[in-house]
Amino acid sequence: MNFRIIDIEKDKDFLIKFRKDTYIQSFGTEEGFDEIAYLNRMEERINKCPSGQLIVEEDNSSIGQIGLGIDIYCGTQIGYINLIYLLSEYRGKGLGKDLISYAENFFRDMNVSEYHLRVSPTNERAIQLYTNLGMVKLMEENEEHLVLRMRKILSCDT
Ligand SMILES: CC(C)(COP(=O)(O)OP(=O)(O)OC[C@H]1O[C@@H](n2cnc3c(N)ncnc32)[C@H](O)[C@@H]1OP(=O)(O)O)[C@@H](O)C(=O)NCCC(=O)NCCS
Repeated sequence: MNFRIIDIEKDKDFLIKFRKDTYIQSFGTEEGFDEIAYLNRMEERINKCPSGQLIVEEDNSSIGQIGLGIDIYCGTQIGYINLIYLLSEYRGKGLGKDLISYAENFFRDMNVSEYHLRVSPTNERAIQLYTNLGMVKLMEENEEHLVLRMRKILSCDT
């Protein structure tokens, strides 16, 4: 697997496809997904933290994406995973674990000792992956949809 920084013009179609599919996997519908608003958000993220906005490649093909950033939560700097995505044919092969491992190394390099993400309570596969890797549920949050905020405290030696 190879990770490269997103080029919004070049990768626009992948970004929309991957986010739309994640929305469907999470909430069972793409209703409410706004492509333009999403691309605008992506542009902001790329401007703020380009090295965290990555396309995942295998044999020079785009097979997934991760979105990583730094946020403030209750006055503390934390890492935040905006998106973790693999095309369906690359799921179930242990690659999700490798993506989280990449994210954890990224956050350590950024000197944050904790990271969070939000996941739909019906996305059992994703929740299982996160739980297996030591993430715990912090709270439920209700924005457009009900989601679980999960977190992990990073130790120095793992
Ligand atoms: C979420 C995602 C990144 C996980 O990566 P992955 O490599 O496919 O994960 P795995 O296949 O290793 O599955 C993780 C765990 O969930 C289990 N699992 C698989 N399908 C499951 C299901 N339907 N219900 C519960 N657990 C399930 C697996 O057995 C595995 O656990 P194990 O290692 O203890 O056996 C990937 O499936 C994906 O891109 N999904 C679509 C996008 C998405 O939903 N992203 C998350 C948004 S928060």
